[in-house]
Amino acid sequence: MLESMMTINVAPVKPPEAAPSSLIRDRIVCFVNDDLSADALLKGLEGCNIEIKRGTIRNAIHMLETDTELLALVADISEVDDPFAQLEGLSRVCPADVRVALIGDNKEIAFYRALMDLGLSEYLPKPLTRNIVQTQLRRRLIDEAAPGPIDRGGQVVSICGAQGGAGATSIAIGLAMLLAETTKAKVALLDLNLQGGESSVMLGVRPGQGLRIALENPARADSLFIERAAIEINDRVRLFAADEELDATFAITKEGVSHVLGLLRQRFNYIVVDLPIPLSPAIYPVIAASRHAIVLLEAEVTGLRNAKALRAALARIAGENRVLTLLNRADRAGGLPIESIVKGLGGKPDLVIPDLGKGMTEAINLGIPALNHVPRLRRHLAPIVREIAALEDESKGWLRRILGR
Ligand SMILES: Nc1ncnc2c1ncn2[C@@H]1O[C@H](COP(=O)(O)OP(=O)(O)OP(=O)(O)O)[C@@H](O)[C@H]1O
Ligand SMILES: [Mg+2]
Repeated sequence: MLESMMTINVAPVKPPEAAPSSLIRDRIVCFVNDDLSADALLKGLEGCNIEIKRGTIRNAIHMLETDTELLALVADISEVDDPFAQLEGLSRVCPADVRVALIGDNKEIAFYRALMDLGLSEYLPKPLTRNIVQTQLRRRLIDEAAPGPIDRGGQVVSICGAQGGAGATSIAIGLAMLLAETTKAKVALLDLNLQGGESSVMLGVRPGQGLRIALENPARADSLFIERAAIEINDRVRLFAADEELDATFAITKEGVSHVLGLLRQRFNYIVVDLPIPLSPAIYPVIAASRHAIVLLEAEVTGLRNAKALRAALARIAGENRVLTLLNRADRAGGLPIESIVKGLGGKPDLVIPDLGKGMTEAINLGIPALNHVPRLRRHLAPIVREIAALEDESKGWLRRILGR
């Protein structure tokens, strides 16, 4: 199914009933260690699109690194020494809309509770029988209504520039690609600058109209929106962008933006958003959902002035502790000295990236990601990626968020 997300020029979004059945995810993949469980799953889930594979949760994680087109996953944790560590690994690569059930040897109720508390659909101790699978597992995996796109799922990181040309799009693209590479998670890059199409030009691809239509009217973005509007950048990264004429008139709505973000958060582990400036109320839902809102500025008077105002606006919507300031091209000739920046901002910038030379602009002209052309960009983005990815370890609650239940 991943092939269906390859580079496409998206045709105008059709109404939901046009869904070709091959695009509806009904696949259940089971990794089990013993024949008895395999047999019980096959019989108990008879009539489903089921794949039984020999293995454990470790093999499931490996599969999810490249293949997430499934409705549900059943994984064996018997004989796995560190099931909770494995679950952490699973949560990094498993989209929120994939239901996860486990089977294992532990029959203690406290163990069951601990697992269910983390957001799993079900845990069944062995031995499995056809009847147990039919009565307890089946309804959890397929019969219960699918959760709608609500406020949980992938982690949102938004980026905006305090002045034109500060590097917001370049940094957003680099961050999305490095996040995917480092964490092996699925990343959506959502470019809400719908006119001018900078991100698509930088990545050498051509967007269609799907995103703009969905942002205008949530009723037009059905569950196939992602298959239709995603532009494949590599195995793990998809771009959602538009390239509307500069004189086009259209009105994206808060409802449309919320709905699109909800759909993306169900399918991707991270959503990196290139925010348009000025911030219009229609995009407030993205800001409110952002775990990190990054304000980029260059060492110029204009950037400094706007950065303060922008930080305050983002903090009001997302929360004070979610806003980070990134000083880009810090050492650029003619720029303000760092002391003036610190004084103007009222503190040190959280992140600093130096001027990375002409390779950055060369990459744009070649239509290739700067990350592959400028090795230093990778090194300077690494601490930001660490900061974003580390959040998952913050508390036990992360698994519920990632697994989405
Ligand atoms: N750290 C850097 N070192 C050198 N060049 C950079 C750096 N960051 C960005 N650039 C270059 O700056 C230019 C502007 O970058 P970019 O288009 O990403 O900025 P932007 O903030 O998205 O601009 P806009 O306001 O038009 O959306 C590009 O040519 C890019 O290659
Ligand atoms: Mg830009």
